[in-house]
Amino acid sequence: MSDTSIQQQSQLTSGDFTAAENPFALFAEWFADANESELNDPNAMALATVDPDGLPDVRMVLMKGYDTDGFVFYSHIASQKGRELAANPKAALLFHWKSLRRQVRIRGAVSAVTETEADDYFATRPKQAQIGAWASKQSQPLESRFAFEQAIAKVAARYLVGQVPRPPGWSGWRITPLRFEFWHDRPFRLHDRIEFSRDTPAQPWIKTRLYP
Ligand SMILES: Cc1cc2nc3c(=O)[nH]c(=O)nc-3n(C[C@H](O)[C@H](O)[C@H](O)COP(=O)(O)O)c2cc1C
Repeated sequence: MSDTSIQQQSQLTSGDFTAAENPFALFAEWFADANESELNDPNAMALATVDPDGLPDVRMVLMKGYDTDGFVFYSHIASQKGRELAANPKAALLFHWKSLRRQVRIRGAVSAVTETEADDYFATRPKQAQIGAWASKQSQPLESRFAFEQAIAKVAARYLVGQVPRPPGWSGWRITPLRFEFWHDRPFRLHDRIEFSRDTPAQPWIKTRLYP
């Protein structure tokens, strides 16, 4: 590791995060650090849901916005995750920033974003990605790559000129945290962990330090 990167690391990990009192503020600090240090996709997070049998399911998604109301991602409503969230609107999220040796766990209730939020975000996507959203039947069996390319070509021809509207089956979800956990690597696996929990979003956070 170069001197500069060691210096950067020590700057990034300086301060005692376990003194934090507000999980959203601490998340903002760590996310800003991750934006500086991660090789790519600092906003990538694992999204865990459960199926109707209670069997957990997990996949990566990109966090496209957050504030004190929660963490937002976008996807297809009829996808596996979309169906699982419709049946059981609760989820867990996990950010792991390898370069910082930090993880943040979040659990909470899930709600749909508004139509306007989904439209606004969809409008910011590159045209190819907008076309892909129309062409993909996410999580359904796909007979061949060629079949997908044909579907893409069909949609592209339809929207050769003008804007691509948001597909009706594509939207976003917001996870409103009831629990956060911040974890930071320490030598010899003597890691630091703090948890913030509340029973409802209207209640104040209860902070607890946890054994590693
Ligand atoms: C880094 C990364 C980011 C991803 N971001 C998204 C995303 O924001 N939305 C999405 O629908 N799929 C995203 N995917 C693909 C999902 O992991 C997953 O394959 C897809 O959504 C289908 O999941 P499902 O069958 O459980 O619904 C991403 C994959 C990776 C590796």
